[in-house]
Amino acid sequence: MKYKITRKEALNLEDFLVEVEAPLVAKKFKPGQFLILRIHEKGERIPLTITDCDPKKGLVSMIIKAVGKTTSELSKLDKGDLLTDIVGPLGNPSKIEKFGTVVCVGGGTGIACLYPIVKALKAHGNHVVTIIGARSKDKLVWEDEIKEICDELIVTTDDGSYGYKGVVTKPLEKILKSKAVDKVIAIGPMIMMKFVAKTTEPHGVKTVVSLNTIMIDGTGMCGGCRVFIDGKMKFTCIDGPEFDGHKVNFDELMNRLSMFKGKEKQAMKHYERGTK
Ligand code: NAD
Ligand code: FES
Repeated sequence: MKYKITRKEALNLEDFLVEVEAPLVAKKFKPGQFLILRIHEKGERIPLTITDCDPKKGLVSMIIKAVGKTTSELSKLDKGDLLTDIVGPLGNPSKIEKFGTVVCVGGGTGIACLYPIVKALKAHGNHVVTIIGARSKDKLVWEDEIKEICDELIVTTDDGSYGYKGVVTKPLEKILKSKAVDKVIAIGPMIMMKFVAKTTEPHGVKTVVSLNTIMIDGTGMCGGCRVFIDGKMKFTCIDGPEFDGHKVNFDELMNRLSMFKGKEKQAMKHYERGTK
């Protein structure tokens, strides 16, 4: 079975939306879960957080940043093109219940991954404040979609080209000092999630982060997605992707992920030159 792309839309120079016909994945999807796809037989398997889902039409969508070989290849596909395989939904769904006031923090491409979680939190009667941050205005994704479903939206840009100037932890700190927050959920670059957890820790606010690690099988077999939580090894694909942000060993994880940067660059070079 192949999976047809039903919509493809560039959101800015790097980020794009891909909607795919995958009825079984759409039927079972719950907020917080992800899928693993391969573009073609010889393709790399990449994990992608599901951004939106239409179970009636059998569609799932993802927002992706074209940073490496596979995501760049994917960005060149269009409506009607076929993907070789999709496995999912994978991972544990987000724990959704009535917590009270929840602050959702999204950074860069990770902003869009918050969408189904914010929607579900609202449906369970929470007051949801969302902080979204990008490097600059042109890199901000899904602001309107998120604004429509949350109670309060705060936007930051690192360069001050839109919203508040600075990173997402600045308004987060302000909120934590000014009102009672029952839970924080963060999705974005690893470094952002590390600092969100550092910001909430002194306030004793339970903080959940969604880890986006390298994955191969997505079923607990290869160990490629291992992370250390409170000193114990866990697999992001079957134990996560969400973990208690105060217990994640971010430094070990970022260090290990950086070891693959050289190989990723090399693969990208070959791809650009058309030599592989
Ligand atoms: P980015 O580097 O542009 O950063 C986005 C925002 O994160 C910044 O604008 C800032 O507000 C915040 N941030 C960055 N460094 C920070 C720090 N030290 N302290 C506080 N806040 C900080 O993001 P990008 O280039 O769009 O990258 C998106 C990242 O999100 C990728 O690394 C991708 O792997 C990750 N992602 C994760 C998931 C997931 O499920 N966890 C899903 C999609 C994307
Ligand atoms: Fe292989 Fe998680 S991806 S164990």
